[in-house]
Amino acid sequence: MSKKWNIASFRAAKGVRKLGCTTAYDAAFARLADEAGVPCLLVGDSMGMTMLGYDTTLPVKMEETLSATAAVARAAKDALVIADMPFGSYQCGDDLAMKNAVDCLKAGADGVKLEGGARVCGLIKRMTEAGIPVLAHVGMTPQSVNEYGGFKVQGKTREAADAIFADALAVEKAGAFAVTLECVPSDLAAQITAAVKIPTIGIGAGPVCDAQWLVMHDLLGLNEGHVPAFVKKYANLAEEAKSAFRRYVEEVEKGEFPQK
Ligand code: KIV
Repeated sequence: MSKKWNIASFRAAKGVRKLGCTTAYDAAFARLADEAGVPCLLVGDSMGMTMLGYDTTLPVKMEETLSATAAVARAAKDALVIADMPFGSYQCGDDLAMKNAVDCLKAGADGVKLEGGARVCGLIKRMTEAGIPVLAHVGMTPQSVNEYGGFKVQGKTREAADAIFADALAVEKAGAFAVTLECVPSDLAAQITAAVKIPTIGIGAGPVCDAQWLVMHDLLGLNEGHVPAFVKKYANLAEEAKSAFRRYVEEVEKGEFPQK
């Protein structure tokens, strides 16, 4: 049965149904995930690492996000599509951030995601008041990788955990419709999930969150490099793809393909 997700139904799933969400960066995979019933597709800035070959998410450009968002939105019939605003697209002034967020919705996104807690609450408020649904992202925020000195679990000390807890409450108050909790201790994720009325979407944050993210390339086993310990591979498409490429090259060499 087809069920078009929207911001209201996503919010209403809290406490009723756990949601397995993933990323998508093109129409081909977005269509597969959508047809398989994935409720929410994030056009993640993780595309910098999964698709574009960078070591971090920082180089991703607004044009790349817009083009990927449009492709995913064309293919996703039922899934909620969220555009992840890339580094630099909301740090250089609120008016530019608003314009970029508007462009994400014009490209077909149902909402945008911003990294940061209390420090982006002004923007979250302005965007939601302008009709742009915002998914917040607290804990380990990959666009701050230079500040952390690597992709490291955050919130391990009492003080750091309290700051992340306060960030989650602040983004809810500012109007975010959901909050991503990335790489935080699972007891902290559980406390936040109990304290906020909006859904929490965990990634490396334990099982208690209302929903989960798993980056598509990790989920499908397309990523042959380092994967975080929390990742579960549901397929090994890298092996499948390499074996198909190998057989194709061999068959052309042997004259077995194409046939007359
Ligand atoms: O870009 C990304 O993949 C993310 C994750 C939290 C899913 O932001």
